[in-house]
Amino acid sequence: MKKSLGRKTLAMPSPVWVVGTYDDAGMPNVMTVAWGGICCSKPPAVSIALREATYTYACLARRRAFTVNVPSAAHADAADLVGVISGRDGDKFAAAGLTAVASDLVDAPYVKEFPLNLECRLTESVKLGLHTLFVGEIVDVKADEEVLGHDGYPTVDGVRPFTFVVAEQSYYALGERIGPAFAAKRKDTAA
Ligand SMILES: Cc1cc2nc3c(=O)[nH]c(=O)nc-3n(C[C@H](O)[C@H](O)[C@H](O)COP(=O)(O)O)c2cc1C
Repeated sequence: MKKSLGRKTLAMPSPVWVVGTYDDAGMPNVMTVAWGGICCSKPPAVSIALREATYTYACLARRRAFTVNVPSAAHADAADLVGVISGRDGDKFAAAGLTAVASDLVDAPYVKEFPLNLECRLTESVKLGLHTLFVGEIVDVKADEEVLGHDGYPTVDGVRPFTFVVAEQSYYALGERIGPAFAAKRKDTAA
């Protein structure tokens, strides 16, 4: 028997990403985002939803650039901290013990300590309500060499990403691998 839970943001899992921007003075800032996801393959793009009240909102809109930084479970404390304080009130990179590095291709800083970094150029924004959806074209991906697998792509075991579960207000690391994706299609083709 299903129970209706009403109009709530209860999908899972949500990523824990940290978005990097520069403010008007060129000060690097970071904020935690859980309302986000890959939203297009060609061109490769990512979407994040920000409240207008965040400092990041104006910084991102003015510079038309941001980075998406994927923290490891080992950096959960830093990722949480930058989600509860504002760059309006001081240097969040310093507060969280993180290092800002200028991106190569966009006007935004990335987080050196986090293993996976996406440089994004703002292409679209849609005001939805409390949140505005920003779409960024991914113009480069950087990854620590240690987290790359034999195929040259980042692995779950290397990156150790984690998720935010809104109903429990908690973070969960990714669990075990349960099997290959598109397996049904492969079987289909083989037949
Ligand atoms: C786990 C977590 C997820 C969050 N996700 C979002 C989000 O998707 N969108 C948003 O606007 N704020 C989100 N926040 C809140 C912002 O990170 C927070 O308001 C932050 O202080 C904004 O920083 P800024 O003012 O320096 O931009 C989240 C916070 C946490 C801890």
